[in-house]
Amino acid sequence: MIEIIGVHKSFGEKHVLKGVNLYIDKGESVVVIGGSGSGKTVLLRHIIGLLKPDKGTVIIDGVDLSMLDEDGLNELRKKFGMLFQAAALFDSMSVWENVGFALKRHKKLSDKAVKEIAIEKLRLVGLVGSENLMPSELSGGMRKRVGLARAIAMEPEILLYDEPTTGLDPITADAINDLIIEMREKLRVTSVAITHDMKSAYKIEAPIRLQTKLPCFIMERL
Ligand SMILES: Nc1ncnc2c1ncn2[C@@H]1O[C@H](COP(=O)(O)OP(=O)(O)OP(=O)(O)O)[C@@H](O)[C@H]1O
Ligand SMILES: [Mg+2]
Repeated sequence: MIEIIGVHKSFGEKHVLKGVNLYIDKGESVVVIGGSGSGKTVLLRHIIGLLKPDKGTVIIDGVDLSMLDEDGLNELRKKFGMLFQAAALFDSMSVWENVGFALKRHKKLSDKAVKEIAIEKLRLVGLVGSENLMPSELSGGMRKRVGLARAIAMEPEILLYDEPTTGLDPITADAINDLIIEMREKLRVTSVAITHDMKSAYKIEAPIRLQTKLPCFIMERL
């Protein structure tokens, strides 16, 4: 599902990705760990085609991203749900409108249908009753969970999580880990999770590692 072959990326003098290779099968989960600034977010941005490698290839579900124009990339991105590190929400939209943003845009559903789906996804991330709040009324952890509800709203084939549990209390963090596992087991979602939280890393990744001996992917510290 995801093939990263010999990817290099530099920003000016800073050589961030130095020949990264990573292969992830359909339905597999991989956890990426590494020090701050080691290039984890940069790697995720290559997977979704927001950054282009200086050298090397990124192939998603058999498609080489370098062959796609902006329209092709936008089409391919419909396969993805992404939880951004800073859970970037639209401040002028309510929680349910944020969660349903892509649904409304791509699925041509009525507001009522979008809101119903948004409420269901909010329930999965433990945010019952918060659909009408505005982002400014949320705590940091709540924002993160809204970001997660938005990432899963379109029932994507691939989920990319950039630090899904950072800043959450241990109980909520555990619930989010369970949700990531559930997404994989029930929906056969392929996922890449970046985390600093080793408990989370072991929980998300350990069952897969036992089955396939697939290691965590560890970014080299700069
Ligand atoms: N668009 C950009 N322009 C210039 N430099 C960038 C850009 N994006 C990332 N970098 C640099 O690339 C390096 C890796 O950044 P990245 O965000 O991938 O780190 P990270 O591993 O996700 O760290 P953290 O754990 O703190 O989130 C950093 O030195 C950063 O300054
Ligand atoms: Mg990062």
